[in-house]
Amino acid sequence: MIAECLPLLECPVCATDGKAKVKLTIQKNQFCCSSNHAFAILNGIAMFSQKKDGLFEDSQFVNCYVESHYRDLITPSVEKNANAKKEDHTDFYSLPLHENYYEDAVALLLEDCPKPFSALDLGCSVGRCSVALARSASVVVGVDPSLLQIQTANEILKTKNISVYVGQSKASYPGSEGVRISVPFDAPENVEFLVADDRTLPFREGAFDVICCSAVIDCTEDPEHFIQTLARLTHTGSRVFVSTPFEWLEKDTPKKNWLGSGAYGTVKGKPEAALAELMARHGFRLLREKNLRWATTVHSRKYIVWSVYAGVFERL
Ligand SMILES: C[S@@+](CC[C@H](N)C(=O)[O-])C[C@H]1O[C@@H](n2cnc3c(N)ncnc32)[C@H](O)[C@@H]1O
Ligand SMILES: [Zn+2]
Repeated sequence: MIAECLPLLECPVCATDGKAKVKLTIQKNQFCCSSNHAFAILNGIAMFSQKKDGLFEDSQFVNCYVESHYRDLITPSVEKNANAKKEDHTDFYSLPLHENYYEDAVALLLEDCPKPFSALDLGCSVGRCSVALARSASVVVGVDPSLLQIQTANEILKTKNISVYVGQSKASYPGSEGVRISVPFDAPENVEFLVADDRTLPFREGAFDVICCSAVIDCTEDPEHFIQTLARLTHTGSRVFVSTPFEWLEKDTPKKNWLGSGAYGTVKGKPEAALAELMARHGFRLLREKNLRWATTVHSRKYIVWSVYAGVFERL
C-alpha cells in the first residue's frame, strides 16, 4: 500500500462497534487493529469486504467497463492494430461517442477545489475517475466491492497497460471472440485500489478533501446511509461529486428507498430535488450541477448513451 494512504486508515469494525479511531497496521500480509480485527491483502489488494457474486464479477461485463472508461485511450490503438481492424464489429470505435465522461466529471468536481487534496473514488469500478483525480491530488483511494473490477483497475495501474478485448461478442450478438489489444497507459503513482463498500470503509472521520461517486448511489441498498458515510468521511470545505442517472433497480435498492418516490420523507417527484434535500439534511450545500453525457458499452454493436445528473456539493 502506498505510504500516503496509511494515515487515512481506521478499523471499520471498531468504528461500527462505537470504538473511535482504532488504527490499522500491516502485519503478515494483512491489516490488523489492536482488537485483532484482520483484513486480508490478496495479491497486493486489501480486502475490507467479502467477495460477492454478481454482474460485476463477470469478465465480459468488466471488459465492457474497461472499454467505457478508457475508450478515448483505446481508440487510437484499435485504429493502428491490423488484427483489431479486421474485426468487422469494432466500427463503434469510430462512432461519434462522447469519449470523456470521466474526465468531464472530474473537471466539474475540481473546478474550484483547493489543492493538494486527498480523494476517495467510491464505487470506482475499473478506475478512470481515480486516475484522472490523481493528476491533481496528493493521494487517491479507489474503492469498490467488486474484486474483479478492483483487480482490473490495479492491473492497469501496476502494468501501466490497458489490456482489453475489442470486437468481443456476447450471446445476444454471437460472433468472434474478439482481439486482445494492449494500450500503454501513463499510470500515476499516487493511487491505491481496495475492496470495500459503503458499510466497510476503513477510513477515519474527515479523511477526505474530495469524494467522487460516479453512478453509484442508485446501486446502493440505502442511499441515505450512503450520504451519511459521505458526511462522516469529509470535513468542512470538502467537495463531493455525486452523479447518477437515477436508474433504480429493485435488485439493488428497495423501492421505498428510491429518491423521487418520497423516500426518507423527501420531496416526491424530481429525484434531483430529493437528492439535494437529503444531501442538505446531512450537511452538504449544492455548488453546481450539470447533465453529463455517458456512453457505456453493452456489446460490440450496442452502447447506451445516458444523460447523467451530476451535482457538486460542499460540506458545510
Ligand atoms: C454503475 S457502476 C459505476 C462505476 C463507476 N463509478 C463509473 O462511473 O463507471 C456502480 C459501481 O458501484 C459499485 N457499488 C455498488 N454498491 C456499492 C456500495 N454499497 N458501495 C460502494 N460501491 C458500490 C459497483 O460495484 C459498481 O462498480
Ligand atoms: Zn478493529
